[in-house]
Amino acid sequence: MSIRAKVAGIGHYLPQRVVPNAEFETTLDTSDEWIRSRSGIERRHFAAEGETTSMLAANAAEAALKDAGLEASDLDALIVATSTPDLTFPSAATMVQARIGMSGGFAFDVQAVCAGFVYALSTANAMIVSGQAKRVMVIGAETFSRIMDWTDRATCVLFGDGAGALILEASEGAGTSADRGILSVDLHSDGQFRDLLYVDGGVSTQSTGHLRMEGKEVFRHAVEKLAKTATAAMEKAGVTSEEVDWVVPHQANIRIINGTAKKLGLPMERVVVTVQDHGNTSAASIPLALSVGKAEGKIKQGDIVVTEAIGGGLAWGAVVLRW
Ligand code: UT7
Repeated sequence: MSIRAKVAGIGHYLPQRVVPNAEFETTLDTSDEWIRSRSGIERRHFAAEGETTSMLAANAAEAALKDAGLEASDLDALIVATSTPDLTFPSAATMVQARIGMSGGFAFDVQAVCAGFVYALSTANAMIVSGQAKRVMVIGAETFSRIMDWTDRATCVLFGDGAGALILEASEGAGTSADRGILSVDLHSDGQFRDLLYVDGGVSTQSTGHLRMEGKEVFRHAVEKLAKTATAAMEKAGVTSEEVDWVVPHQANIRIINGTAKKLGLPMERVVVTVQDHGNTSAASIPLALSVGKAEGKIKQGDIVVTEAIGGGLAWGAVVLRW
């Protein structure tokens, strides 16, 4: 027998304000047609003034608790993957902890930009499998609208705000790919690529900064590295592409999603796509897509789900789980 980290509940939250591509046409030399055809994005949500990452995260957390039929006091740990925390410290996770009324256990942030949720899942899985925690809330939450350069048409039309939350809990498994729960993890980073995607400010340089990206280069790395890490994770899990029910990729660009699915030999009918509605929400994109995929009746108990993401660092990785 072995311990598995099994999904107990999921939920998400999106800020109210929806911004269609057309809104950018009034301030930038861009068009709905360019944004749609080059990225697949049609609209995104932006947080209201004063609405912070921990607020979005807490709303998603409440939705996940409701889905699981649990109380905040049932959680041992809470991890928030974010690059856009409310404050330098305390962590967004402890702020969420307070917001949802979880006074026990422990909470901390993970920062791996767009790969953050995959890194946080890996951390939660390790804690559950090692016996350090029994029930862990894993949240991806971002307010990337706060770090956009609104004069840079090559980046500001691509990102959005939102949050998704997943609860993992310990369960007994046989140690085979028939078990429910996380079956494998594959993580990578390579800091030599830091100039491809970064924010040109931060605490130690005494500014907030704006997101900067060499889009074409990131794109090139993305398809190759995502297909490779997803394949490695599937091999570790002992799962073939025929057995995969759903790929839930990081939602950055429909062309990256298409290209990666093609390399994996998986038809788009088995890929959950939300990029058209959310844009790129960085660490929030996978839990948002998982939550939407489940709500739409796509992801069902027992399904094999492959998640994969890449972002600033570069940092990338994949997790295979049986829902
Ligand atoms: O989440 C982290 C991972 N991030 C990503 O995965 C993003 C990866 N990269 C991408 O998604 C794509 O590279 C972009 C969507 C960012 C850009 O698509 P592209 O096909 O690589 O376009 P490009 O950067 O080569 O730009 C093509 C043209 C350029 O004009 P010239 O130089 O050919 O005259 C750009 O200036 O499109 C221009 N352009 C725009 N035109 C209208 C760039 N942004 C815009 C815009 N509207 N918003």
